[in-house]
Amino acid sequence: MRLILDTDPGVDDALAIMYLAAQEDAEIVAVGSVHGNVAASVGALNALRVLELVGLNPPVAVGAARPLAQPLQTAEFVHGQDGLGGHAGPLPKGSTVAGSAAEQIVRLARENPGELTLLALGPLTNVALAVLLEPDLPNLLRSVVVMGGAVTVPGNITPYADANFFHDPEAADLVLGAGFTELILVALDATEQARVGTDWLSALAEVRGPRADFANKLLDHYGQFYSNMFGEHSCTLHDPLAAAIALDQKLATYRTMPLGVELTGTHTRGQVVSDLRSISSDAYISTNAGTGRVPVKVADTVDVPTFRDLMFKSLKG
Ligand code: BDR
Ligand code: CA
Repeated sequence: MRLILDTDPGVDDALAIMYLAAQEDAEIVAVGSVHGNVAASVGALNALRVLELVGLNPPVAVGAARPLAQPLQTAEFVHGQDGLGGHAGPLPKGSTVAGSAAEQIVRLARENPGELTLLALGPLTNVALAVLLEPDLPNLLRSVVVMGGAVTVPGNITPYADANFFHDPEAADLVLGAGFTELILVALDATEQARVGTDWLSALAEVRGPRADFANKLLDHYGQFYSNMFGEHSCTLHDPLAAAIALDQKLATYRTMPLGVELTGTHTRGQVVSDLRSISSDAYISTNAGTGRVPVKVADTVDVPTFRDLMFKSLKG
């Protein structure tokens, strides 16, 4: 599988890159950074750092510095000031390429029609801009896999919204309504199942090697944040699960439904709007979430043991 990665590294983004790098059947064709966990310029450097650690050298383009319609808000309180839990280290050897992440998506999709999967692990600003630049993008990409949203479960950054959708609700709504041939949403409904606990974390802490050492440092930081929240030693591997599902859809079951994002709610901005009524009757009034939108595939039940095992092996090196 050939992937364009759109990302805001970010601890779990970094772990997702390490996961992908360990899969023989995956090729990261290009990477774009986006604002989100940290500034887009910081995220691009972090992407380069992690790619260098795992021996990969795809082009990395800097993406959108801010959301479409609201001020920039970042999440260093989760991922650390440098986005990598204080372990970013020296500057990467490589540098970013010219052109924006959105332009890179459009160019690659045009050059490889129907071949590339776009894996989006941050706010969807770059993807929305790419759709605006190339309205035929939904037909040019083979598939889009998005980590974001909370469909039937509470949010994380607010009671209603996940961080990725909250950091750019307009972009998320645009992407969900763009009509991609295949869009898989790996929302908190799925990722909250993909938590790793003391046993898993302690077993990885025993492993030595450049990849495992780096992963353990990241997980120490990330685990502390989540442990404070959950009251037990554990953390949630949002972006790695989306990466794993992008490579193997059999890791989850799916529900198919049209979706939108709340843009005007006083308390609920960034919330996924879904019509969960299990009927298809004209007697019910359509909502914005449903009207005329191509349904997306929402990851439902995750094969958690298999995912934990795959993730452990990839970080072990
Ligand atoms: C998402 O928000 C970010 O903090 C994580 O990297 C992940 O992509 C989870 O809501
Ligand atoms: Ca992310």
